[in-house]
Amino acid sequence: MAQLSAIQTDITTLDVDAIVNAANNSLLGGGGVDGAIHRAAGAELLAECRTLGGCKTGEAKLTKGYRLPAKYIIHTVGPVWHGGSQNEEQLLASCYRNAMSLARQAEAKSIAFPCISTGVYHFPKQRAAEIAVKTVQEEVANDDNIVQVYFACFATDDLQTYQMLLNHH
Ligand code: APR
Repeated sequence: MAQLSAIQTDITTLDVDAIVNAANNSLLGGGGVDGAIHRAAGAELLAECRTLGGCKTGEAKLTKGYRLPAKYIIHTVGPVWHGGSQNEEQLLASCYRNAMSLARQAEAKSIAFPCISTGVYHFPKQRAAEIAVKTVQEEVANDDNIVQVYFACFATDDLQTYQMLLNHH
């Protein structure tokens, strides 16, 4: 059974098989973790992203990691929070489910997630973390290849939120 842990870190530094990017529908980079990943991976990442034809909200696409320690980057597009009446919760769950499915296809043994949608997209942090943990727990049950899942928190409050959730399961 895979180990799920919360860590406080810059996700671009993690030496895991795949890191997940909280991208936008264009996949052509942005601010936040998307900007950090593109800066660290280098220009070849953008070149590959240009060939992907964008990504729908809730879906995920895989690229190489280029200059990152991680082998792959799984780009997923979280929902923008509009108050919760526009299927945001299901779309966020789909981000985690589709990212885990691509990780399984790539035979990744380790994966790191940022707190998708909780920055620029304003998804409430606590609710997002509950959806993230629940969905990833469901997915690791069907994947005997994955060994380690990291919830890579940038902010201390996010780390505490994930630690509370992971210690209660
Ligand atoms: N490592 C880990 N987490 C990070 C890093 C980093 N280097 N930089 C930022 N974060 C965290 C933020 O603190 C937040 O908790 O990533 C989480 C997601 O925030 P955003 O990056 O703003 O992502 P999101 O809310 O999904 O908005 C996506 O922002 O950057 C643009 O192109 C992106 O349009 C898209 C939108």
